[in-house]
Amino acid sequence: MDKASLGIGIFDSGVGGVTVLKELINLLPQENFYYLGDTAHVPYGSKSKEELLVLGDAIIRFFLKLGVKMVVFACNTSSAITLPILKEKYPVLMEGMLEPLRKNMPAKAKVGVLATEATVKSGLYQKKLMETNKFQEVYMVACPRYVPLIEKGIVSGKEVEEATREYFEPLVEEEIRDVVLGCTHYPFLTETIQKLYPKIQVIDPAAYVAREVYRKLEENKLLGENGGKVQFFVTGDEKSLKNLGSLYLGYNIDKVQKIDLEVIV
Ligand code: DGL
Repeated sequence: MDKASLGIGIFDSGVGGVTVLKELINLLPQENFYYLGDTAHVPYGSKSKEELLVLGDAIIRFFLKLGVKMVVFACNTSSAITLPILKEKYPVLMEGMLEPLRKNMPAKAKVGVLATEATVKSGLYQKKLMETNKFQEVYMVACPRYVPLIEKGIVSGKEVEEATREYFEPLVEEEIRDVVLGCTHYPFLTETIQKLYPKIQVIDPAAYVAREVYRKLEENKLLGENGGKVQFFVTGDEKSLKNLGSLYLGYNIDKVQKIDLEVIV
């Protein structure tokens, strides 16, 4: 089989990666995608490196069994913590959230990054962004309340607003105007964020990621020509994907397959 006609695997802990999938579909309408939401193990943001590695490993094996030409880590936590290790282990093209942001984001004196606890603790985001010399200060904020709310389908209202105030106040105090959504779930909250903080410039790295995926496929002569299908998989609950996912993509996700990951501990 011609390798270019294989699909692209894309995964996240839940519905978050759909925000990246949307950009990928826009830019690469001829590709086939397999989207996996590891909802049996959401949230990733409170997991250890060891746990994330075991899950990431099982996910890559799942995609390789399906047969893919590339795997997109549509999850900042996994991109920061497990991608560097899994990249060395498996002979398949991989793309994550961090490198495209690092490469493409315009220079700013100060930038805030909202992310999961695990991403913030890894220190990698800050380190990689500072290495570019594009920023004088990278201010990380862990947002543990966000993902559980979003997975429940709550993207506005009192709880989201309370959490948003808690996470943005330190940034406002530091006079930070540009804030990266360093977790793929957070773009679901953009409306609330902009309502409460209209002067903040919200940066979603998803479009940068799609551009990098395009570039890598082109470079490797792997651009597909006859695709356009998306298949959805979950390991646990499918509600968030069906409800929020459908809303975000603008079409009804009617079929979601439940799978068991072969987790080897
Ligand atoms: N959406 C993921 C990320 O970008 C993971 C969120 C979570 O499960 O905590 O970090």
